[in-house]
Amino acid sequence: MKRLTVPKLREMKGREPIVMLTAYTMRMAQLLDPHCDILLVGDSLGQVIYGLPTTVPVTMEMMCAHGAAVVRGSWHSVVAVDMPFGSYEANPQQAFESAARILKETGAAAVKLEGGEAMAETIAFLTARGIPVIGHVGLTPQAVNMLGGYRARGRDEAESDKILADARAVSEAGCFLLVLEGVMEEIAAEATRAVACPTIGIGASASCDGQVLVTEDMMGLFERTPRFVKRYDDLAGRVTAAAAAYADEVRNRGFPGEEQIYRSKK
Ligand code: KIV
Ligand code: NA
Repeated sequence: MKRLTVPKLREMKGREPIVMLTAYTMRMAQLLDPHCDILLVGDSLGQVIYGLPTTVPVTMEMMCAHGAAVVRGSWHSVVAVDMPFGSYEANPQQAFESAARILKETGAAAVKLEGGEAMAETIAFLTARGIPVIGHVGLTPQAVNMLGGYRARGRDEAESDKILADARAVSEAGCFLLVLEGVMEEIAAEATRAVACPTIGIGASASCDGQVLVTEDMMGLFERTPRFVKRYDDLAGRVTAAAAAYADEVRNRGFPGEEQIYRSKK
């Protein structure tokens, strides 16, 4: 199977829904890849893998290491890597250097960065220089210290207008995909109509051109997840049961059994 490309993904708007999940490791990438169009190495790995309180402390080193692992574990999906907080906001030159490093060190095809109108110039700068960019507007977790939390966005008219203006700005700047996070259904629908590129929703209703979730959330690895997460499995329950069964067998000398023991043929 040949790997999907950025232009092919872009052409999916209005034709077929785009399937995206996060992946941080080689093995998870291998398992998810055949089912997805795009694998996102999200900076959500800060919380999910490293136990950090927010995505703010995530580093370029983390993104590059996990990005490379996901590329090694995939052959079909487009792999996109989040640009971590502090690696792109200062100016387009800073963003280009960070994005180029990510593509060179990981082999991923695209980067994602958060922000609307304020990031439009940077997105145009990167795309003009050969770096495909995914936009991300609405609830932007790297701005948690400004937003004061993770409440869904667009509850009043001023907030809605701002999100729509942000969506238009990053799309006109040339992003090939736009993540809409935590926004009211009406905004997602209007933004999806208004922009040329496909929109990918997370907590942004069914009116987007595609959907993304954090894999560990939708697999049920965490007790507490936002309302927009649908749980497709109970990984936490399965891991707990497997660990408990192993612990029991070690303690009652049920493991290792005959099949797991090496014996010399004397
Ligand atoms: O970091 C992440 O996982 C993301 C997606 C959930 C969109 O940005
Ligand atoms: Na992210």
